[in-house]
Amino acid sequence: MRGPGPNDPCWCGSGKKYKKCHRDQDAVSPPAGNEVRAGTVTPMRTVPPSIQPPSYARTGRPRAAPRISDPADRIARMRRVGRAAAEVLDLLSRAARPGVTTEELDVLAHEACIARGAYPSPLNYHGFPKAICTSVNEVILHGIPDSRPLQDGDVVSLDVTLYLDGVHGDCCGTVAVGKVDEESRRLLQIAEECMMKGIAAVRPGRPVSEIGRAVEAHASAHGYDVVRSFCGHGIGEDFHTDPQILHYFEPRARDLMREGMTFTVEPMITVGSAEHVVWPDGWTAVTADKKRAAQFEHTLLVTAGGAEILTALPGSG
Ligand code: MF3
Ligand code: CO
Ligand code: CO
Repeated sequence: MRGPGPNDPCWCGSGKKYKKCHRDQDAVSPPAGNEVRAGTVTPMRTVPPSIQPPSYARTGRPRAAPRISDPADRIARMRRVGRAAAEVLDLLSRAARPGVTTEELDVLAHEACIARGAYPSPLNYHGFPKAICTSVNEVILHGIPDSRPLQDGDVVSLDVTLYLDGVHGDCCGTVAVGKVDEESRRLLQIAEECMMKGIAAVRPGRPVSEIGRAVEAHASAHGYDVVRSFCGHGIGEDFHTDPQILHYFEPRARDLMREGMTFTVEPMITVGSAEHVVWPDGWTAVTADKKRAAQFEHTLLVTAGGAEILTALPGSG
């Protein structure tokens, strides 16, 4: 079957000419089977002036923020933003149903952040155009919410970060849309377990490499691959800061965990190979073999005895 000509309307229904819309993408990864295709992305939404914006809100370029000097105050703020992020993720997880577009989930998230007095951290972060990342099926991470309706049998990662009271809280979960096949159900289960194994390895005085060691061991024991090109990160006054948290064992990752540190653990686990390619939008990272991926993420506080999960829902254990 021949595709549309350069000046024909794009097949995606955007109303734009094919050459202005999906032609570049089709050249990289021709339409085949039921691969995820980019939909249309609406213009960036705005945030009311009452919401305190992070450094990059206008420019798209983050600038390192000064540290909050009082540790107890910093932790109190991290707990508040963590809980708010968990609430928004929970709301989105329930809303992810067949027929709902990822754009609709973005609008829900955008409004839910504002209702909590928070700025949706991804918005204009290095130019990212939306409030959340929505990553469907073979999309590993950084999927841009668009006009694609979720389909029965999809899996979708919802990555939610809020900026409140001068600090960020970051979490992600992957949910089943309608009824998914057994392979996908298992992927979600093992990926969440991988995150929890990584969290269980957190202890002051240990190198951060212990986290990746635990994540990778669990994934490979069940025949899954771990994405190496994207990692967890220190978080707080800045969205992404040191230390890097790798999700595979790297003996050179010798940074020691210290009580009071805040960072994320956010493994991406794949059914097939973890190799990825990035769409022409510059964000969306998909598995090269187009097999499915899942991601779970929490923001953690290192405590004397291990880790406190800052982005846990109250009453979730
Ligand atoms: N929330 C993602 C993370 O876990 C980062 C998203 S940045 C964006 O680190 F610009 F893609 F939104
Ligand atoms: Co995240
Ligand atoms: Co993160």
